[in-house]
Amino acid sequence: MSFPSAVRDAWHMVALSRDVGAGTVRKVTLCDTPIALFRNDRDLGALIDRCPHRNYPLSEGRVHRGALECPYHGWRFAPDGACAAVPGCAVETADDTRLRADALRVAERHGAIFVTLSDTAPAEPPLPPDFGNPDLDHFWWQQGTWEGRAFDAIENVMDPFHTNHLHHGFIRRRDRRLPVDLVVTSHGDGIDMAIEQTQPDLGLMSRFLERDRQRSVSRYYPPTTVQARWEGQTRLTLCVTAIFTPATQTTFTPFARFSTPRGLAPGWLKQAAIRMFLAPVVAQDRRALALQHGVITRFGNPQFTSGPGDILGNRLHRLWRGEVLERGQDAKVRAHL
Ligand code: FES
Ligand SMILES: [Fe+2]
Repeated sequence: MSFPSAVRDAWHMVALSRDVGAGTVRKVTLCDTPIALFRNDRDLGALIDRCPHRNYPLSEGRVHRGALECPYHGWRFAPDGACAAVPGCAVETADDTRLRADALRVAERHGAIFVTLSDTAPAEPPLPPDFGNPDLDHFWWQQGTWEGRAFDAIENVMDPFHTNHLHHGFIRRRDRRLPVDLVVTSHGDGIDMAIEQTQPDLGLMSRFLERDRQRSVSRYYPPTTVQARWEGQTRLTLCVTAIFTPATQTTFTPFARFSTPRGLAPGWLKQAAIRMFLAPVVAQDRRALALQHGVITRFGNPQFTSGPGDILGNRLHRLWRGEVLERGQDAKVRAHL
């Protein structure tokens, strides 16, 4: 099994800027490809984690004189992959293409580092709305690499029905539900589900953090981004952009960016409250995805049955594979969440 080319060839978030300070090297894995990410005083570099000389992992090296130094013989590579030096040999190396390391395109936006493995990816990593909106308070949350498939994690966040059970008491309740209308809109290159309701959810989180609720919308931006927005009577309450970067076929690295309107409460307080309420929810999802992955692995080729609540059907998977959907809106579906 390999990744669809629409996934492999896209831009992917691989690290938080704050985790790759000047002079540091970080090993990341993207779609089964190990990468040595490093930063000198000016630039970021993303090199395939393989020294072209004798195949030593470059991520074991250090940043020295503005270049990534391989620990084996000390060859140094600039962020663009050019060989800056072969120690002990008084020869000019920078223009010798045989000595180059494989460099990937890298971009840094709003505290996030993006890399693409492909030459065909667009010039810029595409960003969802409000990702850099200066009128909102933003913070990042990253919790390492998780067991499971990135696609299953995307399906998990796009699926409201699991919240009553897996997150009973925190988000919604399994013993008391609210009537809601679900509206699915296909945008061709993405899809969203709006949940229309007349009051906030019955779980703890909404009771503490939300005053009113009209609707929440989760939109999938293929291949790896889901943005969920909670809207009150008059304005946005919370926007969460979740990015599920496939590390390997069986692991992924989730990044979440929380954005809230300025002025409701100080940024640090909102951050502390959101982290406190969401930590158990995130742990529940992490465990569920690992268990699900265990079953998939045990039984081999996964078989999924879509029930009446799975109203997105196979559309998420078609988008993941790079297909374009027909635009339009489904009829409203009445449900209880
Ligand atoms: S293997 Fe990297 S310098 Fe020789
Ligand atoms: Fe969940």
